[in-house]
Amino acid sequence: MMHHMDSRERFLAALSGSTVDRPPVWLMRQAGRYLPDYREVRKGAGFWELCHSPELTTRVALEPLARFKLDAAIVFSDILVVPEALGLGVTFGAGEGPQLARRLEGPADLSAWKVEGAVDRLKFVSDAVKHLKTALAGRYGLLGFAGAPFTLLAYCTEGGGSDDFLKARVMLHQQPALAEKALGILADVTAQYLEAQCEAGADTVQLFDTWGGLLDREDYLRFCVPAIRRITEPLHAKGRKVMLFVRGGQHLLPVLGEADVDGFSLDWRADWREARTRYPKHVLQGNLDPALLLAGVAPVRAATSALLRVMREADNGKRCIVNLGHGIHKDTNPETVAALCDEVASHG
Ligand code: CP3
Repeated sequence: MMHHMDSRERFLAALSGSTVDRPPVWLMRQAGRYLPDYREVRKGAGFWELCHSPELTTRVALEPLARFKLDAAIVFSDILVVPEALGLGVTFGAGEGPQLARRLEGPADLSAWKVEGAVDRLKFVSDAVKHLKTALAGRYGLLGFAGAPFTLLAYCTEGGGSDDFLKARVMLHQQPALAEKALGILADVTAQYLEAQCEAGADTVQLFDTWGGLLDREDYLRFCVPAIRRITEPLHAKGRKVMLFVRGGQHLLPVLGEADVDGFSLDWRADWREARTRYPKHVLQGNLDPALLLAGVAPVRAATSALLRVMREADNGKRCIVNLGHGIHKDTNPETVAALCDEVASHG
């Protein structure tokens, strides 16, 4: 039996592929509306106001760590800070999704993007990372994040949320040069923005490609992979590690290796064993169905325990991180989140 590790040691060991006492755990959207304290903070502050306050972002990022046996924190921010910094005018209306004041439709819209100074306007996020890092006092792992270029392009072209992001998918085929140029700009800003988060103390960064799963393999390879490589190349040159989450991206698994990332966060519909066989040296995170957290404590315990057994099958659970296959749903009872984390901790 291995000695008991502390959370940050365990998280770093999982990232670097060394032996762990058990896989570490963090959860997508672990800070959010399912927590009463988050809702309390949001009564007194708008979403952007919250994102711009290092004290408040640290408070909401720490709350899940105080409640549950988690091994890592994720900085509190949003993927849409990048379009906002580019001047697209992002707002979050009460009860609706995000809205962008200026959509990307043609070359003139792209020319109007305020690329110069965009990274400086994102400094509040690395400030939030720094503030959180200090509060964590070396005890927990810390993740930074950004939206993957295609997912950001999807919001920029649609001007808000959508189920199918048809406008972005049409653009790839109708104006491929424009799409590639926009993806390149988003990638270059994101690379510098993520490097700033790493410098501020993030142990790794995750790219959220929430809508990448809408594309087929050919388009993912043609448009998304080169844009992601424009991010991983400079970050790897600095020794940083990059994780990639592609929601609904199981069919893309055979080509995701081309993106040159260090690990994948698997969607709940992806098969863990299949992903592990294909990518034996990548860090794999995931991939419990967030719906389990709405099903009650017993199903959560059973599924978590089964996942941990599958993780142990290859290399005794090295390079594995327990997570969900997408973010925690807002109607989740915190009790089930506690059950998930307790179950993971009991496997040490
Ligand atoms: O705890 C964490 O995981 C860190 C915080 C985080 C947020 N958004 C806070 C947030 C993270 C990692 C994100 C990423 C994000 N944001 C994604 C990718 C991951 C995913 O969920 O697929 C996407 C697509 C967005 C865009 C976004 N932000 C939408 C569509 C919305 C509104 C709808 C919704 O789910 O609430 C947001 C707002 C947002 N971002 C909230 C939070 C906690 C809710 C805002 C509120 O307080 O009202």
